[in-house]
Amino acid sequence: MLNYNSQNQLCFSHDNKFSDPLINIVNNLKYEKPIYLYYKEELEHRVRFLKNTLSPIEIFYALKANAFAPIVQMLIKEGVGLDVVSLGEIECGLRNGCPPQKMIFSGVGKSHKEIEMAIRLKIRQINVESIPELLRISSIARSLNLKAPIALRVNPDVDAATHPYIATGLKNNKFGIETIALSEAENILHSNLDSLEFLGFSLHIGSQILDLNPFQEAFDKLKNIIIDWQSRGWIFNTLDAGGGLGINYTQDDFASEEKLAQQWSNQIKNSWKNNAENFFVEPGRWLVSHSGVLITKVEYIKKTSHHQFLIVDTGMHHLMRPALYQAKHRILPLIKNNNFEPQTSYQIVGPICESSDVINSEVMLTDNITEGDYLAILDTGAYGSSMSNCYNQRELPLELLI
Ligand code: LLP
Repeated sequence: MLNYNSQNQLCFSHDNKFSDPLINIVNNLKYEKPIYLYYKEELEHRVRFLKNTLSPIEIFYALKANAFAPIVQMLIKEGVGLDVVSLGEIECGLRNGCPPQKMIFSGVGKSHKEIEMAIRLKIRQINVESIPELLRISSIARSLNLKAPIALRVNPDVDAATHPYIATGLKNNKFGIETIALSEAENILHSNLDSLEFLGFSLHIGSQILDLNPFQEAFDKLKNIIIDWQSRGWIFNTLDAGGGLGINYTQDDFASEEKLAQQWSNQIKNSWKNNAENFFVEPGRWLVSHSGVLITKVEYIKKTSHHQFLIVDTGMHHLMRPALYQAKHRILPLIKNNNFEPQTSYQIVGPICESSDVINSEVMLTDNITEGDYLAILDTGAYGSSMSNCYNQRELPLELLI
C-alpha cells in the first residue's frame, strides 16, 4: 500500500516499513517519461499469502495481467505456474524460467502453430474453448504422434456481476463450451483417445469479481456436470476454477481482500472435494494490482469554463482501464502539502487525441498543484503496462521493480 512518510513524501509501505520515497526514485531516474513502479515486498506478501491460503490448490498466474520480466521471475521463484494465452506468452514464460509443465494454455483463438508448439513442449494443460478447437487439437496431436493434455473450459452461463467487458461466463460470451455442447465434446473425446488425454474441466467466469455467489453458482453447475460424466465412467485429474478474484480500488482494505481469498479457497475445496486430485486457479489481478503505481508528470493546468484539467504525460495509451471500463483509480501527489486541504476538483486527462483519454474525471487535490508536479495513479500493477500501446506514436512507459 502507499503512505506518506514524516516528510510528506509518498512511499510504498508494508508492515510499517517504508520504501524509498517515490519522489527520490523519480529524481534519481532523471524522469523522462511515465514510470510503472512495482513494489517487491507487496508482491511477495500477496503471492505467499495466496499460496498458503489456497494450498494444496495450485496457482497458475494469469500472465496477461503483467508480464514484466522481474515480476514474472519473482512469481516463478515463489513456485507459481503460468496461465498463458498466446505463443508470445508461452515464450515469455520460457524466457523467465517457467517450465512448460507449469503452464496452462487458455484462450479462444489458439492458432495451429500455437497448438503445435504447446503439444511439442508438453505444456501441462490446454484449456479447450470450443468443439472446432477440440477437433483441431486432436488432429494436430495425431499428426505429431503425441497426446494432447486437455481440459474442457465450460461456459456455465453465470452472471459474474462485473463490468460486461470482463464477464466471460454468460452464454452470450465467446468463452468456453456451452453445456449443451458437452455431449458432442464427450463423443469427440471417446473417438479420439489416441490423441487426446482428458484431464478434466476448467472455468473462468470473469474478472474483478467481489461477490462470491457467482463463483459458487458456477462451481455447483460444474459439480453436476462432473457427477454426470463420472456416472459414465470418466475419471478426472484436474479441476481448474480460473481467476477473477477482485480487489478494492477505492480504498486500502487488504484484510477484507485476504478474507475474500480465504473464502474463495474454501468454496473451491468444499465444492469439488473427492471429485479430482488436482485443483488449479488462475489469478492475475489479485496478485499484482496493488503492487504497482503509474507515476506521471503534470504538463499543464488548463482552466476552462467547465473544468479544471490537469493534462498529464500519461493517458489511455499507458492505462486503458478508465477509458475501456470506466475504471476509477485513486490518484495521489508524490509530495503532500499539509498546508492545503484537497478541495479542488480536477479532471485528469492525457495527451492522446481522443476525448475518452480521461484518467479520472474528478479528483480532489489541493489547488497549489503546479506544472512539473508528479502524481501516482494507484493499483495499476494489473492490466496497466500489459495493455499499454504506442497510440499517437507515443513511447511506452518505463517499468521498475523496487
Ligand atoms: N484465466 C483466464 C482464462 C482469463 O481470461 C483471465 C483474465 C484470468 C484467468 C485472470 O483473471 P483475473 O484474476 O486477473 O481477474 N483487462 C481487464 C481484465 C481482463 C481479464 C481477462 N482475463 C481489466 O483491466 O480489468
